[in-house]
Amino acid sequence: MSKLFILFTLFVNMLQADEGELLFQGNCVTCHHKTRSISAPSMKEVKAVYLSAFIEKKDFVHYMSEWVLQPNKGSAMMNEAVKKYSLMPQLAFEKDVLNEIATYIYQTDFK
Ligand code: HEC
Repeated sequence: MSKLFILFTLFVNMLQADEGELLFQGNCVTCHHKTRSISAPSMKEVKAVYLSAFIEKKDFVHYMSEWVLQPNKGSAMMNEAVKKYSLMPQLAFEKDVLNEIATYIYQTDFK
């Protein structure tokens, strides 16, 4: 029984990971290349800035998803990027979806 439960949990985790990746690929990569900063800072760079401020996964995911829900100059971590590329536009996403995407970003080594 407990083995089954572990398998089930693993399976759910895998599904969630895949979904986060799909959502990221479909909605963020247009502007955020994984490693090259083109029309926006690369996700590798964004992640590094967020990691330097939020080491804990829950803080990282919370701050990032709140910010993307409502991009704001005042709370932006990347002031130079805001100047260079101008503020990221607001995208119409649910908070849950942004949590999944931010979790994927936290867990992924962009290279
Ligand atoms: C239309 C282009 C565009 C799309 C699509 C986009 N971004 Fe951005 N994003 C930007 C630009 C430009 C910046 C740099 C300026 C800024 O920080 O506002 C940025 C900055 C960020 C930052 C750093 C904000 C800060 O604290 O300064 C995060 C986090 C972020 N994006 C996450 C995402 C995620 C997650 C997605 C997908 C759901 C996404 N972005 C989709 C253009 C985009």
